[in-house]
Amino acid sequence: MSLILGLEGTAWNLSAAVVSEEKAICEAESTYKPSQGGIHPREAAQHHASELKDVVSRTVSGAEAEGYSLKDLDAVAFSQGPGMGPCLRTVATAARTLSIALKIPLIGVNHCLAHIEIGRWRCGAEDPVVLYVSGANSQVLVYYSGKYRILGETLDIGIGNALDKFARHLGLSHPGGPKIEALASQGTKYVYMPYVVKGMDMSFSGLSTAAKDALTVHKHKTEDVCYSFQETAFAMLTEITERAMAHRGKTEMLLAGGVGANRRLQQMLQTMCQDRGARFFVPETKYLGDNGTMIAYLGLLMLKTGNTTPIENSMVNPNFRADDVEVTWRD
Ligand code: ATP
Ligand code: FE2
Repeated sequence: MSLILGLEGTAWNLSAAVVSEEKAICEAESTYKPSQGGIHPREAAQHHASELKDVVSRTVSGAEAEGYSLKDLDAVAFSQGPGMGPCLRTVATAARTLSIALKIPLIGVNHCLAHIEIGRWRCGAEDPVVLYVSGANSQVLVYYSGKYRILGETLDIGIGNALDKFARHLGLSHPGGPKIEALASQGTKYVYMPYVVKGMDMSFSGLSTAAKDALTVHKHKTEDVCYSFQETAFAMLTEITERAMAHRGKTEMLLAGGVGANRRLQQMLQTMCQDRGARFFVPETKYLGDNGTMIAYLGLLMLKTGNTTPIENSMVNPNFRADDVEVTWRD
């Protein structure tokens, strides 16, 4: 049985976890909280550097409490990208150090694919169309011929960043998504927002601006603006997800990424799937946002198919795309 240590630190959350074939054994994390505004990459990286020793030690203690020891580890996996350069480099350095010190293979993992594979694992979805929605990413993907293919995506910013940006305008702290969700649930009136779908792609940057104008120029209620923002953005996401399912003839749909925690988004996708006679899957909320377990788990799949990363190929890639990866762990 293989045992993998996974390290995640692409953005504001630093997390380490140990996973075996059978289960997620333990996880420890430390979250960088900006004193004001959004995430500053260098400050987040400094946070990760100062917390890494503690987070890894807590993970190792957690594994020991479950009867495993450092000596049982078969590999160390880390997020190689996409993400913020300074954060990625800090965590990669720690992963290389552990790999050399423990004399075990290193595995560079694509963060987006880790979001997807943990969802498939936790939900038992076999061959779903995936909607991956997080801070920096908004993509619809499906696996075929050796790669996860990106069928549609945002042409500018990710939906999470659009929500966070508007939340900052409202004076709300990071992350803004859950706060907008709470306000939106009190909204009753739909006000105009730009619905931008071009073929299979979307644009979200105009939404934050339109939402600001709806508040300051047109004097609509904050709750109604949040409600309208969500309805518009989530309808765009649901539309391209449905089109991907129709074109690829898929009967499963998996939601992945931090924004997937949103109940209204889940509800819209669930309705769309029901109408098509398809199955809708979403993992527990803790596996939607960034977590070390997903990195360890994809590391495990890669290790089992001989897919490890020599140190000389372990440089980080802030623009690493899901479709850059040759998938060795699926038929
Ligand atoms: P990635 O590198 O995959 O883009 P990330 O760093 O953005 O990852 P995630 O944890 O996957 O991290 O997603 C974080 C995003 O999810 C933030 O933008 C946050 O506002 C958003 N989010 C979290 N909960 C909710 C919610 N309930 N509704 C809407 N958005 C949410
Ligand atoms: Fe993420």
